[in-house]
Amino acid sequence: MRRTIFNAQSVRLTYGIREMVELAARVGALDPHFILIGENIGDPVAKGWETPRFVKRIVADLVAARGSQVFGYTHSRGRLATREWVADHSRRYAPQSRLDCEHVIFANGLGGAISVFYRMLKPGARIIQPCPGYPAHSSTESFAAGAATIGYRLDPDNCWRPDLEHLERQVRRYPQIAGILLINPNNPTGAVYDEATLAAIVRLAERYRLMLISDEVYFRLVYNGARFVHLTELAAGRVPLVVMRGVSKDVPWPGARCGWLEFHNTDLDADFARFFESIKRPLLLEVCATTLPQTALPLIYDHPEYQPWLERYTANLARNANAIAAILGRTAGVRVHPIQGAFYMMALFAEKALKRHQTLKIARESVRAFIRQSLERRAMPLDKQFAYYLLAATGICVVPASDFGSPYPGFRVTTLERNPVRRDRVYRYLANAIHRYLAS
Ligand SMILES: Cc1ncc(COP(=O)(O)O)c(C=O)c1O
Repeated sequence: MRRTIFNAQSVRLTYGIREMVELAARVGALDPHFILIGENIGDPVAKGWETPRFVKRIVADLVAARGSQVFGYTHSRGRLATREWVADHSRRYAPQSRLDCEHVIFANGLGGAISVFYRMLKPGARIIQPCPGYPAHSSTESFAAGAATIGYRLDPDNCWRPDLEHLERQVRRYPQIAGILLINPNNPTGAVYDEATLAAIVRLAERYRLMLISDEVYFRLVYNGARFVHLTELAAGRVPLVVMRGVSKDVPWPGARCGWLEFHNTDLDADFARFFESIKRPLLLEVCATTLPQTALPLIYDHPEYQPWLERYTANLARNANAIAAILGRTAGVRVHPIQGAFYMMALFAEKALKRHQTLKIARESVRAFIRQSLERRAMPLDKQFAYYLLAATGICVVPASDFGSPYPGFRVTTLERNPVRRDRVYRYLANAIHRYLAS
C-alpha cells in the first residue's frame, strides 16, 4: 500500500466470546466426532427458547399489513411513535423521569448504539469500565481512546457489587474520566445492584461531576428475590444519565438488531446536551436503524400475553441458574455465587489452583497438537488455557474470565440450557473436568 492502512489500535477490539467459537470451529475441522456444547453465547433463541407465538403473530401481521411501511426507511433517530412509547414507558417505571422522545435514539442493536456512543466522545474523555466487564463496552471504549481500559473492580465477596472505594480511587487518580459505566443486571456476573449501591454511585457521580451510563439490556430478567431499581428515578434532576436498552434478551429477538439510548437530564449540563446533539450526526449518515422491530416493539411489550410470558421465562431462568449454581457450588477448586438476573454466571478458581502444567486428556493427536501449538504461540492467561483444554477434551465451550478483563481467574457460563436432563449432565461433566484438570 502507498500509505499504511492497518490501524494498530484495532488489536484493542477483542471479543473472547466469539474467539472461543472460532477455536471450536478449528477443533471441529480436525475431529469429525467433535460435538460443541456451547455454554458461551447469550442467545436464548440459539439455546432453544422459542420466540413467543404472540410475538411472531405481531411480526407476521405487520409484514402482511396493507402498505409497506415496515419495509421502508424510518426516522434516522428512530420511529417517532416508538420513541414516544420509550419516553412514556420510562415514566411508567420512574415517575420522576422527564425523558422526552427527542432524547431517545434507536440503533442497529444495542451493540451498534454502544459503538456510536464511544466513537463520539471527545478524544481524551474516558468512561471507567466495570472489571470484569462486557467486551463490547470495554474494547470499543479502549479503541476510541487509543489507550488501555480504565476499570473499577466488581467484588466477588460482596455479591459482585461494584467496589465503591476502588471506583472512587480510580476516579480521583484519572482526571480524564468523564463517566461511569454500569451494567445492571450484569453480564458477566449475573448480579443485580441494590438501591444503596446505586444511590452511592449517583452521589459519587454528582460529587465528581460525571455522567452515568447504565446498560440495562437485561432489566426485565430479574429473579431470586431481587428487584430492579431504576437509576432514572435515583438520578432524576441530579446526574446526566444515558440508559441503554434493547429487544435482544427479553423478547427475545437478538436478530432484530434493535437497541436504543435514552439521554436523561440533558438540562443539567450544557456539555452533556451538546454531546447528545453530536450523536445525531453519525445517525443521519447511517440513514436509519431497522424499521420492522421498532414498529413491533410497543405492540410486543404492551401485549396482554407479554407479562405472563415474562414471568414464566424468568422463573425458568431462575430454576436453570440455581441448578447450575448447585452443581458448580459443590465442585472443589471453584466458587460461584447464585445469580439474580440476566443469564450468566462467573465461576472463580480458588487462589493458586491453576498451574501452567495442568491439562486434560485429548483423544485425537491432531487436536492435541493444535491446542498445544495455540497455547505455546501466546503466553495465555491460565484460565484461558483451562478453557482451551476444556473445549478440546469435552466439547464444552465457556469463556475465560480474563476475556472479560477479570482480575480473578475463572470462567463465565450462560445459564440458558433448556433441557434439565441435558443441563445437569453437561454441568456434572464440567465439574468432573474441573476436578481432573486441577488434579493433573
Ligand atoms: C451487557 C450487554 N450489552 C449489550 C449487548 C448487545 O446487545 P444487542 O444484541 O442489542 O447488540 C449485550 C449482548 O449480549 C450485552 O450482554
